[in-house]
Amino acid sequence: MEVIVRRDKEAATDLVARLVVKQVMDDPTSVLGLATGRTMEAVYDRLVDIDAKEGVDFSHVSTFNLDEYVGLAPEDENSYRSYMNKYLFDRVNINKANTYIPNGIAEDLEEECRMYEAKIRAAGGIDFQLLGIGSSGHIGFNEPLSALLSLTRVKALNPETIEQNSPLFPSPEMMPRRAITMGVDTIIKSRRAVLLATGESKAEIIAKAVEGPLTSIVTASALQLHKHCTIVVDEDAAKLL
Ligand code: GLP
Repeated sequence: MEVIVRRDKEAATDLVARLVVKQVMDDPTSVLGLATGRTMEAVYDRLVDIDAKEGVDFSHVSTFNLDEYVGLAPEDENSYRSYMNKYLFDRVNINKANTYIPNGIAEDLEEECRMYEAKIRAAGGIDFQLLGIGSSGHIGFNEPLSALLSLTRVKALNPETIEQNSPLFPSPEMMPRRAITMGVDTIIKSRRAVLLATGESKAEIIAKAVEGPLTSIVTASALQLHKHCTIVVDEDAAKLL
């Protein structure tokens, strides 16, 4: 596991956006694993910026998002599909037919999860997985005590995650209590993973994930097992390292 510390949020975000651009330039048919959350908004803004100035061809890329809330239709304004359209897909020349996000209103959720894994395999696996980290230590929505060998499945969200994410909904009760998420093993199998964390509020969980024991209580610690993982943090998030 490689850890890169940048002075501030802007510099850390810029580095991660540059790594995505390099991946797409080196292999225009890359399969990207994408993440959501506030931290990623800045990464996508930066990507759009670089694209406008330098031109990045996303037209042959395919993408798989980490997760989606159960019960939210793709067109719901709080769904991760809407988030991705807003922050990235509507702003670059990506072919939306090649962008995959679990369907949170699938009739058979288990089948939806199995199909999602099958689609990732059929695409040849994920070349580059972008990650944030929740304050519970989750990657995707792999909450504490997720099995390290887990694949895509439905997870109940824990109270800390509900507290962290409910302000993003018009009212806190509107936040779903379950999500479909890629499993820890789905993420570990990606060829390259890049996790971005910024701000002091992430310092404690970053220290646990990077320097603590490998434990399913902090699912991000499973990245210690990843063959090619880079953790990018700003000085605030690196404070306890
Ligand atoms: C959500 C996503 C995670 C992401 C986390 C970080 O919970 N499911 O994939 O890592 O948000 O959120 P933020 O960047 O807002 O701190």
